[in-house]
Amino acid sequence: MKKVLYIKANPKPDSESNTFKLSNEFIEEYRKKNPGDEIIVLDLYKENIRPLDNEMITNMFSGVKDEVYEYAKLFASADKYVIAAPMWNLSIPAILKVYFDYVSYVGIAFKYTDQGAVGLLSDKGKKAIHIVSRGGAYSEGPAADYEMGDKYIRTILGFFGIYDIKTLALELTNVLQGEELEKVTHRSYEEGRRMAREF
Ligand SMILES: Cc1cc2nc3c(=O)[nH]c(=O)nc-3n(C[C@H](O)[C@H](O)[C@H](O)COP(=O)(O)O)c2cc1C
Repeated sequence: MKKVLYIKANPKPDSESNTFKLSNEFIEEYRKKNPGDEIIVLDLYKENIRPLDNEMITNMFSGVKDEVYEYAKLFASADKYVIAAPMWNLSIPAILKVYFDYVSYVGIAFKYTDQGAVGLLSDKGKKAIHIVSRGGAYSEGPAADYEMGDKYIRTILGFFGIYDIKTLALELTNVLQGEELEKVTHRSYEEGRRMAREF
C-alpha cells in the first residue's frame, strides 16, 4: 500500500478551479486503479500555513518538534506526490513556496555533507506529478523560458532526491474560448486519466 500526498495550492473551490478539476480527474482515476492506497489531501489554504518566522527557523535548527517539523515528517513519509497548483506570475502560488520552505527540513529532506547538500528522500523510488493550469502556453515555444513554477518544483524535489517527476498541464485557459477551450480541457482530462493509470 502506497501513501499518496495530494497537495493542493489554490484558494479557489474545486468546482471553479481549472487545476483542481484536472487534478481531481487524475486522483479519481488513480483511486480506481489503486483502491488500497492511502491518499492524504493537504489543501494548503485550509492548513495553518504562514511564512517561516524567526521562531520557526530557530526551532528547525534546534530540534524543536513544532508544526513545521510535522509537515516535514509527513512529506518525507509519502511515496507519491500529486501537486496541484496553477501558474501564478510565471511561477507557483506563494503558499506552495511556503510549504516547500517547511518541508525543506535539514535532517529530514536533505543533509549537509563535506561534498555539499545531499537529498535524503532518494531511497524509496518516490515519484511526483505536478498538475498545473496556465492562462497562456509555456510548455513549449517562445514563452517556455519564462516558466519557473514547474522548473522550481522539479529542482526542489531533485534537491531532496526525488527525480521521477511528471507534469500534466492544461494551458491557454485565458486565451481560448468556447468549444476550443472545451476541447483542450477534455484532452487534458484524458491525458490525466492515462497518466493516473501509470502513476
Ligand atoms: C494571481 C494570478 C496570477 C496568474 N499569473 C499567470 C501567469 O503568469 N501566466 C499565465 O499564463 N497565467 C497566469 N494566471 C492565469 C491562470 O494560470 C489560469 O487562469 C489558470 O487556468 C488558473 O487555474 P485555476 O482555475 O486552477 O486557478 C494567473 C492567475 C492568477 C489568479
